[in-house]
Amino acid sequence: MRKRKNIITVAIDSPAAAGAGTQAMYIAKEYKLLYLDTGKIYRLIAKLKLSHGKKFNYSFLKKKINNIKIEQLNDKQLISDEIAKYASIVAKDINIRKLVKSFQLNCAYNPPRKYSGSVLDGRDITSVIMKDAMFKFYITANLKVRAKRRHAEFKKLKKKISYKEVLKSLRKRDYLDKNRIHSPLKKTQDSILINTSKLSKKACFNIIKNIIDNKINT
Ligand code: C5P
Repeated sequence: MRKRKNIITVAIDSPAAAGAGTQAMYIAKEYKLLYLDTGKIYRLIAKLKLSHGKKFNYSFLKKKINNIKIEQLNDKQLISDEIAKYASIVAKDINIRKLVKSFQLNCAYNPPRKYSGSVLDGRDITSVIMKDAMFKFYITANLKVRAKRRHAEFKKLKKKISYKEVLKSLRKRDYLDKNRIHSPLKKTQDSILINTSKLSKKACFNIIKNIIDNKINT
């Protein structure tokens, strides 16, 4: 695969609702990077599987993935607990992961010229997709804090779900994502760990910005 030279590449992994998406957005804005929320791809696949029943097979999916537009990933319907649960089930399938990989590699290493690089977040970005990223972060927070934050987000979107249900669902997804056979979520040795449990969004971004600025300004 052709790779654009001299670009900034940032890889982030995290369990669900740890704040990685927010940080990735801040990073993208600050350094003019293409941002890809890779979880949304698995969510989109989950939605396709739920809505297409028997028509859903690998060749159907291949066509869909090859023609994906990043804007499609902004679909509000993808932000539901049901879709999230189903996403972590489809994400166990190695053939589905292979289909998604080339799309992710292209975003990571060949972002459009208007961008100075890319930032991707997900579960296997530091360990599989962008092993050689310039910056690698593992962003986490304790389960209760994550459940509280996700519950507040759902409330804002007027989605009816209790705190207890959100907690249960995140716990289950953590388990599935960390214990699956292919591309499980883990912190790689070369990733910088940031625990956001007691950090504001701004404080967390300051830590990240310092790390990035230190390296690119030397
Ligand atoms: O990040 P988000 O909660 O949207 O991800 C939904 C699900 O997609 C995760 O729970 C995980 O199972 C799967 N996923 C993955 N690999 C990624 C990103 C997400 O397996 N790189």
